[in-house]
This record gives sequence, structure tokens and C-alpha cells, in this order.
Amino acid sequence: MTAIVYESNTGFTERYAKILSEKTGVPVYPLNEAKKKIPKGEDIVFLGWVFANKIKGLDKAVKLWKISAVGAVGMNPRSDKNTEILREANKPECPLFYMWGGLDNSKLKGMNKFMLNLVRDSLEKENKPEYADAIKVFREGGDFVSEEYLQELVAFILMKM
Ligand SMILES: Cc1cc2nc3c(=O)[nH]c(=O)nc-3n(C[C@H](O)[C@H](O)[C@H](O)COP(=O)(O)O)c2cc1C
Repeated sequence: MTAIVYESNTGFTERYAKILSEKTGVPVYPLNEAKKKIPKGEDIVFLGWVFANKIKGLDKAVKLWKISAVGAVGMNPRSDKNTEILREANKPECPLFYMWGGLDNSKLKGMNKFMLNLVRDSLEKENKPEYADAIKVFREGGDFVSEEYLQELVAFILMKM
């Protein structure tokens, strides 16, 4: 395993990538830096934040390197259903792991902020009880980063080394 490469907008994915690097000893780089430093075809693990079910940066990473595992970081709680939706939307040719990230409204700008507000408004309008937790996170933000969510990916990397 040459590297852990990540794409992060507001910092949650970056935190997971750095913890993963500490736990495995594999060096970590943001995608833009990795493009300059890591030769094409190397074996990497890619972590990206979730944007409308797509894992940001994965399409670029796939063209450059051999991806052994992909980690997705989003604001939705971890569940088998959510992971399955992400698998279907991204179709990675490797195992996919999901880490619960969070939402930091203070760091969102421009189109990202606008889009997220649209989703929040439509959930609020529907006003279904099952959306209550999500609406709270949309309004107040939340930080759910925990090493617990990295356990399986850490084990996967250590097994491959
Ligand atoms: C425009 C937009 C769309 C998003 N879509 C999703 C989504 O489909 N599923 C999800 O779980 N989180 C979604 N999120 C939340 C982010 O994935 C979440 O905040 C993540 O922790 C951000 O990671 P980062 O701090 O590394 O950028 C979305 C956020 C934005 C701004």
C-alpha cells in the first residue's frame, strides 16, 4: 500500500484519513498533492466525502491509481442500506467502507451551501417524523467522527500489508 489519498471539503474526511495513516503507518496525502507525488498505477486507499451519494474525487483517483479500498464520509448515519446506496451510486471495483462524518455549516460556501439548504428545506416541508434527526443535523451541524468507524478499514489495510 503506497498511500492514503483523500478529498475533503470541510475537514471530516481529512481527519479520518489522518487517523487511518496513524493507525496503519501508511503515508497520507490530499488528492491534489498526491497527483504530483504518487506515480500512476500505485496501490492506494482513497477516502472522499459524499456529495449527493457520489464519492468526491473517486473518478479522478480511479484514472490514476489502483484503488484497493475506498472510504466514503458523509453526514448520514452508518447503516447497511446507506452503504448499499453508495455502492450502487459509485460502483467501486473494490471494497467500500463508510465512515460517519458530520456537517459543519460554518465551512460551507457557494453552491454546496445552496444545495444543502435546498435539501433541508424540502425535508422540512415534508415534515416526516423519520426526518427529525436529519433535520436537526442540517440545522445545527454535527461531528460524529469516531475511530470506531475506521476499525474495519484499518484491519483491511493491515491484512494487505
Ligand atoms: C452539496 C452537498 C451534498 C451532500 N450530499 C450528501 C449525501 O448524499 N450523503 C451524505 O451522507 N452526506 C452528504 N453531504 C454531507 C457531507 O458528505 C458531509 O458533511 C461530510 O462529512 C463532509 O466531509 P468533508 O468535511 O471531508 O468535506 C453533502 C454535503 C453537501 C455540501
